[in-house]
Amino acid sequence: ASADALPRSLEGVHVAISAGGTREALDPVRFIGNRSSGKQGYALARVAAQRGARVTLVAGNTADLVTPAGVDLVRIGSAVELRDAMHKIAADADVVVMAAAVADFRPVSLTGHKIKKTDAEPDPIALTKNPDILKELVSARRDGQVIVGFAAETGDETTSVLDYGRAKLRRKGCDLLVVNAVGDGKAFEQEDNAGWLLSADGAEAAIPHGSKAQLASAVWDAVTDRLTRSQ
Ligand code: CTP
Ligand code: CA
Repeated sequence: ASADALPRSLEGVHVAISAGGTREALDPVRFIGNRSSGKQGYALARVAAQRGARVTLVAGNTADLVTPAGVDLVRIGSAVELRDAMHKIAADADVVVMAAAVADFRPVSLTGHKIKKTDAEPDPIALTKNPDILKELVSARRDGQVIVGFAAETGDETTSVLDYGRAKLRRKGCDLLVVNAVGDGKAFEQEDNAGWLLSADGAEAAIPHGSKAQLASAVWDAVTDRLTRSQ
């Protein structure tokens, strides 16, 4: 049995969730990647399925994670593959959650063969920008569709984690943004998470320190609230 407060509250709702990090190929055996484990996206999928949603989980490198019961899994590698998959699935989804850590850049060219080392110094790797999938999904949003983004921020001397989050919510145009404070071993590869849930209507809620399942529950509570209001 689930300890969830709102059982079956997502009955009849199709949710699309991206999880894990993308990998940008350099050659057939090498890539540029990131440390995202995919655990938060999987927790979102598990809780949504427990609440009765139809869940499509689009996963990058989430090596050792078990696909939650009742969840449809789609595997992707690069950001461009993730974008194509998300557009297809989002066209039929009531809720879209971008929990994936999308590489901001990819190598300009993919070498068809393994790059060999020679006596000369290596060439620098030229990079180009990946598409902003979340922004694209917001532009293509269906009527009543709820779109959720994630942001991992460290903050710096001039700007707090929360202020970076507020600016990102406006820039992306999504309905909800989950802002995580990272750095000092927070969030990445950890079991726990903490942050804020920012809403496009100006509402801001602190998410108390807890498990990724608890953060997922807080996200689905907020999503359910929005779905109910837009009906
Ligand atoms: N995202 C995306 N496509 C990208 C980059 C990010 O869809 N090319 C999504 C992420 O999945 C996340 C949100 O946008 O839901 C915020 O990602 P983040 O990396 O924090 O934002 P960026 O716009 O890339 O800004 P920066 O990394 O410079 O802070
Ligand atoms: Ca980024």
